Amino acid sequence: MKNNYEKEIKALLKKMTIEEKVGQLQQCGPSLVGAFDVSFDELVNMVFDGRISKAEFQNMMSSAKQDFHEEDLRAGKIGSYNGLNDAKTANELQKIAVTETRLGIPLLFGYDVIHGYRTVTPIPLAESCAWEPELWERTARIAAEEATAGGVHLTFAPMVDVSRDARWGRVSEGAGEDVLLSSIYGAAKVKGFQGDDLTKEDAMAACVKHFAAYGAAEAGKDYNRVDMSMQRLFEEYLPPFEACVKAGARAVMPAFNDINGIPCTVSPWLLTDVLRNQWEFDGMTISDANAIAECVTHGIAENTAAAAKQAIEAGLDMDMTSNAFSDTLVKMTSDGAVSMEVLDRAVANVLRVKFELGLFDHPYRTSEEREKAAMLKPAYRSLAREAAEKSIVLLKNDAVLPLKPGLKLGIAGELANNRGEMTGAWAIKADGEDCVSLIDACMAQGINYAYIDQNTAIPEDCDVYIAAVGEVKNQSGEAASRASIELPAEQIDLLKRLIETDKPVIALLFNGRPLAIPWVAEHVPAIIEAWHPGVEAGNAILNILFGKVNPSAKLTTTFPYASGQCPIYYAHINTGRPGGKSKFTSKYLDTPLVPVYPFGHGLSYTTFAYSELQVREEQEGVTVSVKVKNSGDCEGVEIVQCYIRDIVAQRVRPIKQLVDFSKIPLEAGEEKEVVFRVPYHKIGYYDMDMNYVVEEGEFELFVGGNSVDCLSHRFRL
Ligand code: NOJ
Repeated sequence: MKNNYEKEIKALLKKMTIEEKVGQLQQCGPSLVGAFDVSFDELVNMVFDGRISKAEFQNMMSSAKQDFHEEDLRAGKIGSYNGLNDAKTANELQKIAVTETRLGIPLLFGYDVIHGYRTVTPIPLAESCAWEPELWERTARIAAEEATAGGVHLTFAPMVDVSRDARWGRVSEGAGEDVLLSSIYGAAKVKGFQGDDLTKEDAMAACVKHFAAYGAAEAGKDYNRVDMSMQRLFEEYLPPFEACVKAGARAVMPAFNDINGIPCTVSPWLLTDVLRNQWEFDGMTISDANAIAECVTHGIAENTAAAAKQAIEAGLDMDMTSNAFSDTLVKMTSDGAVSMEVLDRAVANVLRVKFELGLFDHPYRTSEEREKAAMLKPAYRSLAREAAEKSIVLLKNDAVLPLKPGLKLGIAGELANNRGEMTGAWAIKADGEDCVSLIDACMAQGINYAYIDQNTAIPEDCDVYIAAVGEVKNQSGEAASRASIELPAEQIDLLKRLIETDKPVIALLFNGRPLAIPWVAEHVPAIIEAWHPGVEAGNAILNILFGKVNPSAKLTTTFPYASGQCPIYYAHINTGRPGGKSKFTSKYLDTPLVPVYPFGHGLSYTTFAYSELQVREEQEGVTVSVKVKNSGDCEGVEIVQCYIRDIVAQRVRPIKQLVDFSKIPLEAGEEKEVVFRVPYHKIGYYDMDMNYVVEEGEFELFVGGNSVDCLSHRFRL
């Protein structure tokens, strides 16, 4: 039976002073001191505003020292650190906590391990396009093996925010627009990070984030408000969080945004009613960075003390770096403004995770030797390459690919020759020099190529041109919303110049979000979506280009025609006037009705044919079968997708909703039957009184290789 450590926690709580209790709730980030008088955030602002140059900034940073607030630590005022990434410092601080504080309670080290630690794997949005839970789990496992060797105990991942607005930069950090995929992705990541035994030295607790609906921030603007019905929240935004809690995630981070007027950080409904009471979560919650103090700016609390009181009473346990708890809770608990019961509950949740990780018995879970040996092992690199190959989506191919060996490639665009850009957003432990760029890979593999930089005229003797276009890594991730997600004019110009050569041209996209690429889709004969593929970028891309690997990835996010089409997603509802030819229908006058590439789209070097869709009603659900044949002339892998629609219901329902998928390898000419069992409880919805109902009536089932081209079958329940 699971040990909840209640006895140990109670015993410890009895010994703790109020100061020590509050200390356990304080997560502190090392601050930089010595080189400048302003805060780090202000310094970053100064670079952005142009008040200081990048060179000046770097100068200041290199002469700055990290302040770990050791005096506070000795006094029992710190329970956790954020942002440490080396075994030596972690062990030194842990030693202070264990040997020099009164009660010797070990520290918890948290870190953003989002898509790899030192071995950077593709950004989550890319990796989700593999539609492969085992892969998601395996890459999380190696991330945990490396990160724990570096001293990390808790990762602020997975991010399972369903994201449907490509303007939002953080779409890069999650699994895209679909509820089911995000749920399966999140659960796989939790399992991979945590392993099967949290006390093992390479197990890392997972903190699922951002709870909740951060992906629905209005107009895709980061941190923005979220206002939506409870039905929609429970149908479309909460299921991935519930899946992660069920998978055993030990921590949850409330989102920066408000939901219907209440910032998640101080929402008792979210943090207690839903999370603890409905889902029976018994891990710890931790605020997002500075989020408690920011409740004052939100205008929901008069001052930091009021924000801290609201947060802890709502069910928030640990304060990430805002000092709101440490500055105010001792006094408020002493004078009764916050009850001891509330404080104890928060402390107990933090201590439980520390016990579960085995930190009381083994506070030093790593050593410098282990750290040295753990990073970038050959097996990790090859997994990173496999993940990249399975994440790269072939968007278009008018008989250009795969390339024949021996062709001379003309490669243009800075992104083809920039290692550091391959890591993508949120790879904070990465060393860009670990990455293999496309040019590196060409050199290492003896590929005949010419690199065309901005100042080079296009050489005529190439057989095919590849233009690396898209975004640099800072254009996605946190605080990277964009109002325009079109390609910049210079990149279109480059493509035009290459097309004028009359040789085949491939657009090789690097980006952290869907981009609006209607011109490219129309004029460039081949398009490869590489995303930000990680350390093995160049090798994976070459394998796809030359057909050593047959692409199999499928988009988990819709590619809009224009920024103004956002948010756009396949699982939308029908209006009374769905977009059509006549004027008074739901559409934009200046874009087509449909996106450039739909959810689920992705090509292969072979083709697949679907036939004989059958649907049978059974006791527990419907059984769906379909035949899928590799109708081309090379082996390939197909991701078979199964969608459903409830035709008439008490509330309007999505025109299609993914209910299952299967990834199958097929030899040339081979045919397989794929069977899906769709339980009835998966096809219900919330009625107006928030009862989950599965109604009788007409449904339509769809099976296909993307969300548009499907076989379909109507049936009655
Ligand atoms: C802010 C981000 O929203 C969150 O995702 C991250 O985990 C924390 N900062 C810590 O870096």
